[in-house]
Amino acid sequence: MKQVLLTGDRPSGKLHLGHYVGSLLSRVTMQDQYDSYIMVADVQALTDNFENPGLVQKNIYEVASDYLAVGIDPNLATIYIQSQIPEITELTIYFMNLVSLSRLERNPTVKAELTQKGMTESIPVGFLCYPINQAADIAVFLGEIIPAGEDQQPMIEQTNEIVRRFNRIYDVELLKECQAHIGLNGRLPGIDGKNKASKSLGNAIFLSDDTESIRNKVKDMYTDPNHLKVSDKGQVEGNVVFTYLDAFHNDKDELVELKEHYKRGGLGDVPLKALLFNDLEALISPIRDKRATLSHKFIKEVLLDGTSRARTKAQETMRQVRAAMGLNHFT
Ligand code: TRP
Repeated sequence: MKQVLLTGDRPSGKLHLGHYVGSLLSRVTMQDQYDSYIMVADVQALTDNFENPGLVQKNIYEVASDYLAVGIDPNLATIYIQSQIPEITELTIYFMNLVSLSRLERNPTVKAELTQKGMTESIPVGFLCYPINQAADIAVFLGEIIPAGEDQQPMIEQTNEIVRRFNRIYDVELLKECQAHIGLNGRLPGIDGKNKASKSLGNAIFLSDDTESIRNKVKDMYTDPNHLKVSDKGQVEGNVVFTYLDAFHNDKDELVELKEHYKRGGLGDVPLKALLFNDLEALISPIRDKRATLSHKFIKEVLLDGTSRARTKAQETMRQVRAAMGLNHFT
């Protein structure tokens, strides 16, 4: 039996390079080693977009296209829609008994999101509880390997606390602890250099961006604000162009030399940005081309088939969960 790899994304926008280095690439490279479950997390997306269901609905297909375009193979990985698996919702309710309010309020990722989204005054309960829902996402499929960005580490810890409590209280060895598999480049900054790359902050390069958008975003990228003349000494640290070159430029020796040259002075931003543009265009153009071949009908078939397979697995776990909790009244 292969171990279960499980992950997902909120369909609140198209996926970008941060997703690619944080998680998408590992999903593709690991998909034949593990039993892979990849979810379009629409229920979670609604926790901060409940007033905007149209946005979530539209982006389910965008996210699924991104998955297929980067090379997630629907014959190897089960791709499904979270809201269509009611077993996740049921397990979420049972898990709520196992988590305290103060524990939820301490989750650093949730805290950061509340500040970023201006929700500190009046916190919707649904949003505060999404880590419990995410624990159920993972546990119901017995997920063990979770490819995700660095910001998901607190969710994994919270999931493991819940899983351990569940197994101990109901005296079973049913649910599995999981571990994050953080992509090589953990965290990719946005082109503004201030925040992480994020669809909501508008500072990301999308896997579906056209050539001109990539060119313009690279042109706008934050470098070293004190590097005014080519002859000036430049700073590499915090310079987004170098952070991206670290993530995407394959010739590492050349990169070491470029950094030295930049620090010494005499290397301008323009040639560096040209180099980065070439790297990004080479990466994204095949993804863009693949995306263009995917019909709505095909994506729907993939989602329908994946959701049906996922549901079978979730139902199997829930039969055991209910038995452990004394809820199997009619069986
Ligand atoms: N929280 C993830 C995000 O912000 C999405 C997600 C939902 C997820 N359920 C998951 C990730 C389960 C890993 C495992 O995009």
